[in-house]
Amino acid sequence: MRKKIVAANWKMNKTLQEAQALVKTILSGSGSNNEVTKIIIPPALFITELARLTKENPSFSIGAQNCYYAESGAFTGELSASAIASCGAKYLIIGHSERRQYFNETADQLKLKINLALKHKLIPIYCVGEKLNERQTNHYFTAVKNQIQEVLFHLPATDIEKIIIAYEPIWAIGTSLTATPEQAQEMHSFIRFAIMENYGADVSKKINILYGGSCNAKNAKELFACADVDGGLIGGASLVADEFLQIINSF
Ligand code: PGA
Repeated sequence: MRKKIVAANWKMNKTLQEAQALVKTILSGSGSNNEVTKIIIPPALFITELARLTKENPSFSIGAQNCYYAESGAFTGELSASAIASCGAKYLIIGHSERRQYFNETADQLKLKINLALKHKLIPIYCVGEKLNERQTNHYFTAVKNQIQEVLFHLPATDIEKIIIAYEPIWAIGTSLTATPEQAQEMHSFIRFAIMENYGADVSKKINILYGGSCNAKNAKELFACADVDGGLIGGASLVADEFLQIINSF
């Protein structure tokens, strides 16, 4: 049985005070739902405080949205994987499409970030997804397969097992267009098959694959009901406590 996971990618939203209030409301509203792993991924400045607020509840963890691809050094303004881990984060988003698009992150850099995350015992949430034109021209399988191959397939089986993959079609992120459950399931099973081809069936069955892209309280249930969808990476809808709590309860 794979874990059920809902991860909240807050992106560049919230002040410290707003972040504290939102986490407190989510904590009290989630009651005894311990079956679902909840990962809150705030702006990195708030990691220490949110790790403190959630430490009594083992079904909650904190993550970071990005790290730099070098271990440490003279890189003004950047954050290292080791610093992130030392503040209490357990997860790290790598390769979000906004990072690839606005910050020109390359596959080689992402590979280094994956290695650093694993070295510092952070669980990578590796994001993949096709652009609208790749969907429209039927190149979406190739696009996603390349993203996985280039960045993950150097890993040994013992490491790939730890990775969470988030399938986030770029045309669905922040657009209120959501992949249909059929489209999501088709891609998730394709990703699992690609892992199987390289690492075998046992490994592929263990990998958590999340769906992201305008997932909300209305559509989460049918997406999470798909056989290969193990939960969601939620952007906009994770910024509102009620909406996020409903998504947590959508399995
Ligand atoms: P969205 O973002 O839910 O606002 O579409 C998802 C993501 O970018 O992770």
